[in-house]
Amino acid sequence: MTGIKELAYVVYQVSDLMDWEHFGVTLLGMQFGHKTPNGFSLRTDQKAYRWLIEQGPADDLVATGFEVDSDAELDLIVARLQSAGREVTVADADLIRARRVERLVSTTDPMGNRVELITGFADADTAFESRALLGGFVTGAGGAGHEVLTTPGVTRETYLEFYVDLLGMQISDTIVEKIAPGVYADLIFLHCNPRHHTVALGDVPVPRSIHHFMVEVSDIRDVGRAWDRCLAAHQPIEMTLGMHTNDRMFSFYVSSPSGFAVEFGWGGLLIDDPAAWQIGHFDMRDSWGHESPTRVAESLHAGTMKGAH
Ligand SMILES: [Fe+2]
Repeated sequence: MTGIKELAYVVYQVSDLMDWEHFGVTLLGMQFGHKTPNGFSLRTDQKAYRWLIEQGPADDLVATGFEVDSDAELDLIVARLQSAGREVTVADADLIRARRVERLVSTTDPMGNRVELITGFADADTAFESRALLGGFVTGAGGAGHEVLTTPGVTRETYLEFYVDLLGMQISDTIVEKIAPGVYADLIFLHCNPRHHTVALGDVPVPRSIHHFMVEVSDIRDVGRAWDRCLAAHQPIEMTLGMHTNDRMFSFYVSSPSGFAVEFGWGGLLIDDPAAWQIGHFDMRDSWGHESPTRVAESLHAGTMKGAH
């Protein structure tokens, strides 16, 4: 089925631009892209930008841009959205210019997230360069990365109808994990290219529309070095180094200056043959690690005390 090709960019509204520049460029190793009227952009590859950072009070995701292969395919998706009763707005010339795309239509997903469907996402004029990474970010056919969106009060049928039936994504797998007596983390993972998932959706108890955005690097040493930089800067760590059961990403989670997390990972599983893919069901999110920092600190402290006796 015709559908979106990849996650091209995200737009965040943040209260502190300076903190975000330090976080993106110095800690994560992204490249400062360009200044905008109310913020700046960050690059992770040859594209004009991947994250647009705008000054504002939300401290949350404000838009996700998904690229579509051609005008004809975009027209088909728009027709599907409209026949399902979803409002579609054609962007004006100012927004097209600001997003550096050829065409842009916007709609809203069932959780109220702004979704921008685009063609012709521009490249930058200069080669990508990171001051911090030994390798680079893994993008290409897999797009900018993946994001996990929260779905309080929205049924799985409702959001799958949007992301699978209308945008044309495919289910990768599900994870239902008991995190406390009677409390479950219930997540479903969707792909639209070889990246194991581009969007995951779940009823996660966070006050924002996004739980985290994942960026992947090509050199495993860059995960460790980013971890070191975040620790040295006292950037709050949300989950320590670990590996997920489903996409086998080796990663850690750091809090952004806006409170939602960034997963910094390496070695994620690829879906090379979508036709042969079997949808998996997991009852644990992690095969190891991804602990709370408090728990790790307590264990390390207890070990030190034991060694002292
Ligand atoms: Fe993730």
